[in-house]
Amino acid sequence: MTENSKLAEIGVVGLAVMGSNLARNFAHKGHTVAVYNRSFSKTQALMDNHGSEGTFIPSETIEEFVASLEKPRRAIIMVQAGPATDAVINQLADAMEEGDIIIDGGNSLYTDTIRREKEIAERGLNFVGAGISGGEEGALNGPAIMPGGPAKSWEALGPLLESIAANVDGTPCVTHIGPDGAGHFVKMVHNGIEYADMQVIGEAYQLLRYGAGMTPAEISETFKTWNEGDLDSYLIEITAEVLSQVDAETGKPLIDVIVDAAGQKGTGRWTVKAALDLGIPVTGIGEAVFARALSGASAQRAATVGNLPSGELTTLESLGVDKATFVEDVRRALYASKLVAYAQGFDEIKAGSAEYNWGVDPRDLATIWRGGCIIRAKFLNRIREAYDTNPDVESLLLDPYFKGELEGLVDSWRRVVIAATQIGQPIPVFASSLSYYDSLRAERLPAALIQGQRDFFGAHTYKRVDKEGTFHTLWSGDRTEIEA
Ligand code: 6PG
Repeated sequence: MTENSKLAEIGVVGLAVMGSNLARNFAHKGHTVAVYNRSFSKTQALMDNHGSEGTFIPSETIEEFVASLEKPRRAIIMVQAGPATDAVINQLADAMEEGDIIIDGGNSLYTDTIRREKEIAERGLNFVGAGISGGEEGALNGPAIMPGGPAKSWEALGPLLESIAANVDGTPCVTHIGPDGAGHFVKMVHNGIEYADMQVIGEAYQLLRYGAGMTPAEISETFKTWNEGDLDSYLIEITAEVLSQVDAETGKPLIDVIVDAAGQKGTGRWTVKAALDLGIPVTGIGEAVFARALSGASAQRAATVGNLPSGELTTLESLGVDKATFVEDVRRALYASKLVAYAQGFDEIKAGSAEYNWGVDPRDLATIWRGGCIIRAKFLNRIREAYDTNPDVESLLLDPYFKGELEGLVDSWRRVVIAATQIGQPIPVFASSLSYYDSLRAERLPAALIQGQRDFFGAHTYKRVDKEGTFHTLWSGDRTEIEA
């Protein structure tokens, strides 16, 4: 750094693709950006390849990096979640001064963020756990950003983050989500919804391909059409792209040469674990996480494929199902299942926010998720309207607009679940979401029987529908009922 050079408004630590793209995004917006990476070669590569895109201040040591930042210093960490993040936080905290802000932009577990915020606050610094969505392209051209942490750091950070975030109708896709772990919690649930959304798209593909016998190219066209309606979203758009891709080596559709075992880095699993602790049924997300696990259970699949009785299967043709009707039914089943996944995700956010006193406003999420992030979709406008109309709605499914939509979807949804079962194709999220929906609608659930069983074997007691109190039947005695 020369003596005359200006100090940087923001710094980025960790210059793998996400970090360097974020640094470039800040630079493109006219900010001076300090950059640092543990091995200087990455910093050098950024400077060589993109140094002319804006004003960067590269550093070889973390102390030099911190010294190149204007006060209050703001440094975004873009390194692997877990111990690597802790190590960098500590190095930064050692070199920083009171009032400086450390931002963790990785996919950190929200409980780690809560711990780190406390530790850093004790050292007089501010810590902001910020979820950043949009992948490599989003980091470069406009991600959705979900910062948590103390409200006062938002004052120093907000304008900077707003300048690089995606923008929908003049509204930047970033806002302060809530204290400590709120930002990372919300990003975690975003990813859980992303898992469910990808799985329902996958189930639709499975049915069109192996049920309706369509080619990947034909299905790609179908998804393109779907992307012009209610399902208009980034994930549907890229699905059409993936399905139209032809493998250069074999000339086959690329989809047919990709191994059908889905990876996962952990955020979907965390969403389900947190939901279990909060007691929120995120069945769509759960089934999506398990579907990925099953796809990767290669030894088990090698042993079971072609080796388990299927029962008598039929075809859509023998069922007399018209192809065009089936395709439309599948679209509607996808839409309905997607609605359930979002409703469940928002339920989890509501419960998490109540548990940790975060005061998360669901309208903010529906607003900032409209652009930049992986689950961006036209339909988030409707979710925002739903929460605008009634911020306390018991389930998004009850919102008058979505209720109206469900009216038009539910018959198709049932037909698809029945047909898929008859032709023997797996649809874990379509089917479990329909069961969830029917559970919500059911006047009586078998939970009464479960209470009876629990009382039988463990004297766990039950409540009665017709009077107050807690009761127990003397099952091993004369079977009279006593008040417990
Ligand atoms: C995003 C993505 C991003 C990433 C996830 C998905 O919002 O930009 O969710 O965070 O792609 O890590 O991870 P897995 O599918 O590998 O779990």
